[in-house]
Amino acid sequence: MIVQTIYECRCHHPFDADELKEFADAARAHNIANGVTSFLVCEGDRLLQVVEGGTDAVTLTMRRITLDKRLRDVKVRLMTRRRARVFSSWALGVVDKDDREFRRILKNLNHKSVFDLNILDALKLMKRVSGRKYRVMDILERREQNTRPRALKAKSGLSLNEEIIGLRC
Ligand SMILES: Cc1cc2nc3c(=O)[nH]c(=O)nc-3n(C[C@H](O)[C@H](O)[C@H](O)COP(=O)(O)O)c2cc1C
Repeated sequence: MIVQTIYECRCHHPFDADELKEFADAARAHNIANGVTSFLVCEGDRLLQVVEGGTDAVTLTMRRITLDKRLRDVKVRLMTRRRARVFSSWALGVVDKDDREFRRILKNLNHKSVFDLNILDALKLMKRVSGRKYRVMDILERREQNTRPRALKAKSGLSLNEEIIGLRC
């Protein structure tokens, strides 16, 4: 069993690309070390994040997040025990309101903001965005591998997931 915590909070101002990269790199390193998986939606100064892993790891992560001076009004929206992770492929996936997949899925649901949804629907939306991104990345990766020379294929240790995360942040 794992624990999944979903919290929302505000940041003092919307993160720019450098700020996003700074905290996301640090957070990802912690999450990988602690076996935590996570997905974060940034909508301007409002954030919604899912944190999942072992009980101690999630408690430690939430403490780190709560103590982060860049964040305020941290409110846990849902804590559940689950058999399996929802975001097992993501050390920390991040989407912001300019993300195409995020906007498209939100629009299909006739909503302007993830905060218009109840928390279970918000989780479903995040799952769809992450799954969709993963599928798109999978296809891109296969395409890229088919056009890549063999020697390069063998060398590349990165999954496309990691590459895309790197790009986004
Ligand atoms: C929006 C946001 C999300 C964060 N998510 C995580 C997280 O998933 N895991 C984590 O360990 N820390 C998370 N943090 C905390 C910081 O990344 C981290 O504690 C901080 O950068 C200090 O890093 P250090 O302990 O390596 O100095 C988050 C911080 C912010 C602002």
